[in-house]
Amino acid sequence: HGTMQINENGHLMIGGCDTVELAREFGTPLLIIDEAEVRRRCFEYRTVFRGTGIEAETIYASKAFLTMALCRILKEEGLGLDVVSGGELFIAQSAGFPMDRVYFHGNNKTPEEIKQALEAGIGRFVVDNMQELQLLNYLAEEQGVTANVLFRVTPGIEAHTHEYIQTGQSDSKFGLGLANGIAMEVIRIASRLPRINICGLHCHIGSQIFNLESFRKAGEVMMDFCNEIRRELGIEIRELNLGGGIGIPYTEKDPEVSIRDYALIVADTLKKKAFQLNLPLPKVINEPGRYIIGPAGTTLYTIGVIKEIPGIRTYLSVDGGMTDNIRPALYNARYEAIVTNKAFKDPIKTVTVVGRCCESGDMLIHDLKIPEVEPGDILAVFCTGAYTYSMASNYNGLPRIAVVLVNDGEAEVIVRRETYRDLISRDQIPARLNL
Ligand code: LLP
Repeated sequence: HGTMQINENGHLMIGGCDTVELAREFGTPLLIIDEAEVRRRCFEYRTVFRGTGIEAETIYASKAFLTMALCRILKEEGLGLDVVSGGELFIAQSAGFPMDRVYFHGNNKTPEEIKQALEAGIGRFVVDNMQELQLLNYLAEEQGVTANVLFRVTPGIEAHTHEYIQTGQSDSKFGLGLANGIAMEVIRIASRLPRINICGLHCHIGSQIFNLESFRKAGEVMMDFCNEIRRELGIEIRELNLGGGIGIPYTEKDPEVSIRDYALIVADTLKKKAFQLNLPLPKVINEPGRYIIGPAGTTLYTIGVIKEIPGIRTYLSVDGGMTDNIRPALYNARYEAIVTNKAFKDPIKTVTVVGRCCESGDMLIHDLKIPEVEPGDILAVFCTGAYTYSMASNYNGLPRIAVVLVNDGEAEVIVRRETYRDLISRDQIPARLNL
């Protein structure tokens, strides 16, 4: 992955930094973000439609992982941002991210969040439902502004991925149904609202998708819908956001999908449809999260208790777990790992890597092959940039871990480790409990 190497001591290096030293300097668990890899992936996405005749823009899905430092990198790399809450918007605002490049998602935006976004002057609202549309028009009127919107529709496509991360099917809490006519109805109403400027459509068919043909189907359904909108309402749709969702290989068993293939399939689909229906070619908006940040992250843990249950298995406990990476517990997600201070040693046994939480489901890796290990060795779990830190918790009173950005031999903390003080910093004791 990325800028990883093994140095002469048999230590894993990332971004020119020795991970064993990073663990010593910053402590563990530690999330390492490889800056060059993030930038490379941003660039790859930003330029992926080049030469296809399709105008494209890429916005990063903040939910995968967001910090102020990352906002600065994304800004420099020319990406936009998809935020789903006032909180994510606030992080972007605090980092000085250009607000015209921000898209606001969410199936239940609050009036306060909509006001915040209108005041900030964000680029696009991705309208999810009728209630939101009315509220947005009302609040925009109040502020004397116009809101630029995309409509999120559910194209009725079931991408083959884990049930919890499927989103494109008709029975979904997200978006406006196409088949049942709700999407058309909402857009019809929007076309009469004075403070709503209809810019385009959005769909997101799921996450960790390997079958790129799902995107062909989505493109076709969306273009057909653009055609219907033109026929019924006389409105030309200029922007098509096809969501994110490109899968990444977490283990050797997962395929590697090429986003160039994705772009070629989408471009081909849209061009054919545009020609067939005599529609203008819309601008495409890509909305990846995982693809940008997943492979750029690596988590370091210190190995603690090694428990051998004779004839059954060996449990290898590390100093983090479901509090810093809930994906194995939640989605049965698989990861690969190595012992970073013994990167050259041959694997001799199979262990089950578990976290330190009081929860049997707190497993990180089933059946990992590793060399002889002892407490204090450092385990590096790969591909942990996406949906790990952003889904972290303080379960069992574990402080959230630190995040370090590495590049060219330099390592800088971008999120400091939580302290025990942080754990109680928002607690208040009612006076009557003072004895
Ligand atoms: N756009 C929308 C509207 C989304 O809902 C999502 C992800 C994305 C873009 C980015 O998808 P990506 O490119 O990262 O696949 N926590 C789960 C994933 C949930 C994804 C939610 N939506 C996981 O850890 O696998």
